[in-house]
Amino acid sequence: MRTHYCGAVTAADIGNTVTLCGWAHRRRDHGGVIFIDLRDREGTMQVVIDPDTPDAFRLAEDVRSEFVLKIEGLVRPRPAGTENPNMPTGMVELLTKKLDVLNPSLTPPFQLDDEAVNENIRLQYRYLDLRREPMQKNLKLRYRVSKLMRDYLDTHGFMEVETPMLTRSTPEGARDYLVPSRVHDGMFYALPQSPQLFKQLLMVSGVDRYFQITKCFRDEDLRADRQPEFTQVDLETSFMGEEEIMNLVEGMIRDMMKKAQDIDLPAAFPRMTYAEAMHRYGSDKPDMRVTLEIVDVGDVMKDVAFKVFSGPANDPKGRVAALRIPGGAALTRSEIDGYTEFVKIYGAKGLAYIKVNDVSQLNESGLQSPIVKNLSEAALRAVMERTGAANGDLIFFGADRAKVVNDALGALRLKVGHEKGHVDGRAWAPLWVVDFPMFEYNEDENRWDALHHPFTAPKDGHEDWLATDPGRCLSKAYDMVLNGWEVGGGSVRIHKQDVQEKVFAALNIGEAERREKFGFLLDALQYGAPPHGGLAFGLDRLVTLMTGAESIRDVIAFPKTQRASCLMTNAPNVVDEKQLRELHIRLRNTAADRAA
Ligand code: AMO
Ligand code: AMP
Repeated sequence: MRTHYCGAVTAADIGNTVTLCGWAHRRRDHGGVIFIDLRDREGTMQVVIDPDTPDAFRLAEDVRSEFVLKIEGLVRPRPAGTENPNMPTGMVELLTKKLDVLNPSLTPPFQLDDEAVNENIRLQYRYLDLRREPMQKNLKLRYRVSKLMRDYLDTHGFMEVETPMLTRSTPEGARDYLVPSRVHDGMFYALPQSPQLFKQLLMVSGVDRYFQITKCFRDEDLRADRQPEFTQVDLETSFMGEEEIMNLVEGMIRDMMKKAQDIDLPAAFPRMTYAEAMHRYGSDKPDMRVTLEIVDVGDVMKDVAFKVFSGPANDPKGRVAALRIPGGAALTRSEIDGYTEFVKIYGAKGLAYIKVNDVSQLNESGLQSPIVKNLSEAALRAVMERTGAANGDLIFFGADRAKVVNDALGALRLKVGHEKGHVDGRAWAPLWVVDFPMFEYNEDENRWDALHHPFTAPKDGHEDWLATDPGRCLSKAYDMVLNGWEVGGGSVRIHKQDVQEKVFAALNIGEAERREKFGFLLDALQYGAPPHGGLAFGLDRLVTLMTGAESIRDVIAFPKTQRASCLMTNAPNVVDEKQLRELHIRLRNTAADRAA
C-alpha cells in the first residue's frame, strides 16, 4: 500500500510522489491549510493538505488523533524558516494529492506524547502505549540485543534447542506456576523456572553447545527488576571450565553492547569474590560506580557501653559496620531521618551516625553524635582510621545480624551514593562475582539451602567438606553484575553422580526424595555425563539497563503488574465450572467463599 515509511522520507525524495500509511499523530488547522503529522514505526512526516485538493481537504477536516490514513503526495522542501533540523524528516513535507481514511479511531484514553501517563492506564491500553516512540525504540533494541547474542552464539558453535514448558519443578528457589493435568487426575505440571535440568541432559546427549532464548516462570515477590515470566538467554557447554565459560560469555556481552549501542566495555571484566563483595559492599551484586565502602568495626565494639553495638559485636552471626559519607556532615536532620526510615525497610532498627567536625578530638567536642559518649576513645580512633574519616564527613553505622547490616548498609550505600553524587562517572561498570558459597543457612527452617542451585559443582578440594562443614564449601558459580544489577548467573555443574548425591545429602534431601524428584538426572549422570557448565542472562534486565528504563516492564511488550496481573487481558481470571471439573479441581476457600 505504501512506497515509504513516514520516518524514511528525506530531502533526496524531493520532487517525487510517495505514498505513506500511518496514524494521525497530530492535526493542526492553520486557517485554510491543514497539517497532519503522520506517524509510523519509523518516525513522523509533516503532511500538508490544502483546499486545492477539495476531496482530501474535506476528509482531513474530520481526521482526529490516531485515525489510520493513506496519503499520496509530492515531497517538497519545507518553506524557509519552518525546517526542523531535530527531525530526520524535518527538511521536507508532503503536499497531499490523495487522502484515504483507512480506519477512524476512538479518542485515545491518553495523549501518546504525554510523558506522565499513569502506568496502569498504559498497561490497560498497552497496544496504544506501544505505539509511542520510546516503546517502539525499546522493542527494537530488545530485538537487536537478542539477535546479536543469537548470532554470537551461532558463530561459536552453539545450537538452539527447545525444552518443554510443561514439565516438573526445577529447584531455582522460587515458587512454581502449576498447570493441572486433565488426563492425570490430581497431578500437575510445573512451568519451568529455567531450563536447567534439560540443558544438563542435553550435555549428556552430546549436544556439546546449547543455547535457548526462552521464557522462565517464577512465582516470587515482584520488584522493579522481576517479572513472573521473564526471558533468559540460556546456554550450556561441555568440556569447558569456569574461566573458559566466563571468557566466552563476557565476549558475547562486550560484542553485543558494542554493536547495539557502540558501548565499549573493558577488555577484561574485573572479578571479585562473593566474600569480598559482601564485606565491602554488603551485596553480591555491587554497583561499582558508587565510591562509598563499608568497613567492619565489630572487633573494637565488643566492650563498649553502647549495647546496640556491643551485642552484635559479640554475636558470631552479628556484624557492626560503618559507612563513611565524605562531606556528609552537611546532611540535614531531616535527610538523616529519611535515611533512618529507609534502612528500616531492610530490617535495621536504627541508623546511628557520627558527624565528624574535628577528627583530632575523639570526644563530644570533635564528634557530633548521640552515641559518642558511650563509645571508647580506642573504638572511635579505630572507626576514624578504618573509614579514613576527615573533617566534614559523616559516618553511618549498622549493628545487627550480618544479613540485616549487609542489606541495610548495602542499600544505603547505593541510595546516598547516587543521591549525593558519590559515583565515579563511569557509564558502565561490569563485574564478575565468583567463589560463591555452595550453601546458605536457612535460619527459619534450620537447614542448608543451595545458594545457586543444587547442581552447582564445589570448588576443587572443597568436596570433602560437603559432609563435614557445608558452610565452608565454595562453588564454581559466577554472576555477571552490571551497574549493580545481576544480569547473568551460572556455574560449572556436578557431572558425577556420587558428588551430586553428597550435595543432596548436605541439603538434607533424602534418598526417596532424590529418586522421586531427580532420579532421571542421577541416572543420566551415570551414562558418561561430560564435564559441563553454563550460564543464563536475564534478557529483560540487560535491555532495561541499555535503554535506561526504570522498570523491566518498559522493555516487555505485554508485562504483568507488581501484583502479577495483566491489566489488558485481565489475566489471571476465573474459569468456568466445566473446565474446572475436567481438571478435577474444586475451588475452596476463595476470596468469594471467605466473603460469604
Ligand atoms: P538465575 O536464577 O540466576 O540462574 O537466573 C538467570 C538470570 O535471569 C534473570 N532473572 C530474572 N529476570 C527477571 N525477572 C525474574 N523474576 C528473574 N529471575 C532471574 C537474572 C538472572 O541473573 N539455571 C540458572 C542459570 C545457570 O546456572 O545456568 C538460572 O536460572 O538476570
Ligand atoms: P537509641 O539508643 O536506641 O536511642 O539509639 C541511638 C542511635 O543508634 C540512634 O541514632 C539509632 O538510630 C541508632 N540505632 C539503634 N539501633 C541501631 C542498630 N541496630 N544499628 C545501627 N544504629 C542503631
